[in-house]
Amino acid sequence: MTTKISMEQLVNLCKQRGFIFQGSDIYGGLANSWDYGPLGVQLLKNIKDLWWKTMVEERMDMVGLDSAILMNPSVWEASGHVASFTDPLMDCRACKARVRADKMVDEWQHANNSDEKPANWAGEKTPPADLLAFINEKKMPCPSCGKCDWTEPKAFNLMFKTKMGVVEGEGKDVFLRPETAQGIFVNFKNVLDTTRRKLPFGIAQIGKAFRNEITPGNYIFRTREFEQMEIEYFFDPETTDWKELLETWKTTSMAFVRDQLGMDETRLRFRDHDPDELSHYSKGTTDIEFEFPFGWGELCAAGAYRGAYDLTQHQTHSSKTLTYRDPFTNKEFVPHVMEPSFGVGRLMLAVLLSAYDEETVSEDDTRTVMRFAPAIAPVTVAVLPLVNKLGDRATELAQDLIKQFRVQMDSSGSIGKRYRRQDEIGTPFCVTVDFETLEDNAVTVRHRDSMQQERIAISELPAYLRSHMA
Ligand code: GLY
Repeated sequence: MTTKISMEQLVNLCKQRGFIFQGSDIYGGLANSWDYGPLGVQLLKNIKDLWWKTMVEERMDMVGLDSAILMNPSVWEASGHVASFTDPLMDCRACKARVRADKMVDEWQHANNSDEKPANWAGEKTPPADLLAFINEKKMPCPSCGKCDWTEPKAFNLMFKTKMGVVEGEGKDVFLRPETAQGIFVNFKNVLDTTRRKLPFGIAQIGKAFRNEITPGNYIFRTREFEQMEIEYFFDPETTDWKELLETWKTTSMAFVRDQLGMDETRLRFRDHDPDELSHYSKGTTDIEFEFPFGWGELCAAGAYRGAYDLTQHQTHSSKTLTYRDPFTNKEFVPHVMEPSFGVGRLMLAVLLSAYDEETVSEDDTRTVMRFAPAIAPVTVAVLPLVNKLGDRATELAQDLIKQFRVQMDSSGSIGKRYRRQDEIGTPFCVTVDFETLEDNAVTVRHRDSMQQERIAISELPAYLRSHMA
């Protein structure tokens, strides 16, 4: 177990060390936008690479895809996003503040420790008149001005709309995709025809998605622009039981976040969606939740069972056949699908929170360490020349290592200070080049977590480091 840190502390630490900056910082920022700095972008990339390697490259039943962000608008009619991907928003007549009505109900329940609900409660899909009646009955005040004078909630679509085409006023309306999933469904037939896969098999995609949320926040937990890693795993419901498949994906997804990303397992748990909160397409969904500083929150969907909803919808709207023919039985049908879905920024937030540690080294000495799993640490090896005179030998060594590891050179300050600086960015190994190195071609390797030091021959160094990265 590591040390718990507040969100404010984490935001400062990430800014100071170059993990995450406010978006458009020199212009005063843009609400809810964040830029990933040199260490942040590397950590993000390492998480994505590890996911791709684990979920695609190391599995015989998975293939990858990279579809366009802008898609034919009919995709979103078919998927149900035009009609159903909405939040119920209402306005305060007194101060004009706009809020999400279903979230007001959630917060009221939480604050009053009550499970009383509006009539016909279905989360964001509750009929507007029922939401308003409940909010008025409980006299829920406006969070900005304290009055209770609300308009009836209206469905607000979360998709960002833009124009395609170069002629002002004449462009065609298109949407920035709100999920990567639909790019997979519309390519199902292309992938099937070109790879000749047999069911069950999955298609994975990593890419940006956009949602015009009214209540983004909690740093990189909920942003309007974000990156997803999604899998659509197609199967025959007559030969594969969806509940068993969901259990398999729960195990796979949990193993990824806990064992490979190194998240603190005491802060992880499964949560099944209640029937009234299931998405319009889902018959059963299990999330993995993480204990963030603001409470338990969704980390990822370990698996969402979407049935044959998406392929059937696209088959109807496109008039193209999206069936699978079983080569042994000749049975032709629309496959069902299980969807594990991860948000990369959210995983990174949980990785940062899990890694942060303050360790008492001695009575008057505390160190801050980011205990990243070595496979995803932004820097794997720091090469430290004991004195500047040894810079050439250290550079030569760094250039050899950089072909296999993520290397940083640091030559300023005492060795002790340099070790601590590397601890703060989570570098698992520091390699010190000293005068003896010139004689014995060996270096001192210092381990981040144990602070133990060992003398290792340079010829054996890459194999030694690799063996300590697992
Ligand atoms: N594809 C599911 C989601 O984006 O939430």
